[in-house]
Amino acid sequence: MSPEFSEQTKKAIAEIVARYPKKEAALLPVLHAAQREFGYISRATEKSVAGLLEISPAKVHEVVTFYTMYNRQPVGRYHVQICSNLSCSLLGAGSLIDHLSEKLGIQPGETTPDQKFTFSLVQCLGACEQAPCMMVNFEYFGNLDTPKIDEILDNLE
Ligand code: FES
Repeated sequence: MSPEFSEQTKKAIAEIVARYPKKEAALLPVLHAAQREFGYISRATEKSVAGLLEISPAKVHEVVTFYTMYNRQPVGRYHVQICSNLSCSLLGAGSLIDHLSEKLGIQPGETTPDQKFTFSLVQCLGACEQAPCMMVNFEYFGNLDTPKIDEILDNLE
């Protein structure tokens, strides 16, 4: 069953689509609007978006599975994504990943039982000059070490 967008999201999507000469070009921002509504992009949401933009569900799925900014399952209130690619690894991401696992009490790919944190490993966040780095929701944090990670997480909420 397709999820039903709220009236507010339908209005936002219509405004997004109106900015582009072709509906398909609105795919990325429409997916963001869908994710704001549901917290993640399910296969059913992919189909709804495909219908709205008059493109194939496969095209939507390609985009959702390519970009790590789209969640494919529900995540906690804070989605902690740390880069495990080359630059970050060379500058200590491995020990930071271990530290985050210990601090949050979960392994990469898991969500805390209170739904506060989801912890993910990602490939290159495009901020190699600040390696090692991570994102919490849509905010970047770079030049990390364990005290900085502690400060960031302890200051949430
Ligand atoms: S390798 Fe970590 S941000 Fe690029």
